[in-house]
Amino acid sequence: MTSLSQAALDDLLEQAENAAEKSYSPYSHFRVGAALRLSNGSVVTGTNVENISFGLTICAERSALVRAVSEFGPDIRIEAIAVMNLNGAASPPCGACRQMLAEFSDFETPVVFPAASGLRTMRFGEVLPLGFDLTLKKL
Ligand code: THU
Repeated sequence: MTSLSQAALDDLLEQAENAAEKSYSPYSHFRVGAALRLSNGSVVTGTNVENISFGLTICAERSALVRAVSEFGPDIRIEAIAVMNLNGAASPPCGACRQMLAEFSDFETPVVFPAASGLRTMRFGEVLPLGFDLTLKKL
């Protein structure tokens, strides 16, 4: 599925878990962390930042993504994605995050996240089979 070793994916998951410790989630108390491994070898993390107006809340995955682009520029590519939460719940990336991550990910990019059955690794193309794409490549 991926050229990354299981140890590298485990390490990414640990960094996602550490990022979740920083969560600002006074409304949901759901503490999420994400870690993106980039093709330049860097790992960029993010956490969810909530807002009293609720709708302005940003998820951990998008926090990590905007950090990655802000730090390394528009040509980044994502090699692996890890999501973790401190609530012992399932938390695959939400639909909005999948669409945002699609811009910088490939079909084979592994996504590791807590599922109901425990940790799961899926390919990004399976997690978002038909994202919005003006080239209509997948239709
Ligand atoms: N959340 C994430 O950080 N990532 C997701 O993919 C889904 C949800 C956050 C948003 C909000 O702060 C909390 O989890 C509850 O929805």
